[in-house]
Amino acid sequence: MLNKSYNIDQIYNSVKDTTNQGYSKLSNFVSNDEVNILIGILENLFLENEKKYSGRIVEIKNINRAEFSILKKYKDIINKNLNSVLKTKFYLNKVWFERKIFNINTNENYKSELPYVPHIDKIRFFKALIYLQDTSEVNGAIKLGKQKPDDFETLRQKIINNKNVSNIVNNKTVTYNSINGKRGDIILFDTNNPHLAGDGEENKMRMTIRLDFENIHWNNNNLFSKIKFMSKNALKLI
Ligand SMILES: [Fe+2]
Repeated sequence: MLNKSYNIDQIYNSVKDTTNQGYSKLSNFVSNDEVNILIGILENLFLENEKKYSGRIVEIKNINRAEFSILKKYKDIINKNLNSVLKTKFYLNKVWFERKIFNINTNENYKSELPYVPHIDKIRFFKALIYLQDTSEVNGAIKLGKQKPDDFETLRQKIINNKNVSNIVNNKTVTYNSINGKRGDIILFDTNNPHLAGDGEENKMRMTIRLDFENIHWNNNNLFSKIKFMSKNALKLI
């Protein structure tokens, strides 16, 4: 499979689409060889890192400084022109890796809980999901609405300022699509676009890399409370 090379204008348009409708997809963005390199890095980083969440096994790890230096070698692979486009409006805030294993579910109530119900995130990010394998409903692809992210900013501010305001979105007119994609695709989305985690079938795995970007105006709470919040919510993936 040959990867498609995107020029700056095409990527700009995709980012623009994301700001208008909440998400977009850059098909075949990462080449087969590059995906193999990234999978190799993940295999090394995640080998012994299993945690349980909502009755299913989740593997996740925030990468540390040493690991980040390994990753930096591959910065060009995963960012390419995307990074330079985002730099004009966003800055790269944090790099996360995730790899999930869906296992036998022991808690039948999980589907009525976050992150398996439509919501927006309290801390807003522009995310790039790199699919390292084909991803669909079967292995728990994210489900996204198609809404203009800025339209939900007032609600998010209410959530931030009043702990009684829920981040669950109950609007029945919003429909949610499973964002299926192929190995090498990148999905761009804004967490202000209502979304929910895909549950997937038992024992199915999804391997993705997630890059988080933020606009300097979005999350201007102090660093300490941000770290505290993010570590508390580290398992609440997308
Ligand atoms: Fe979320």
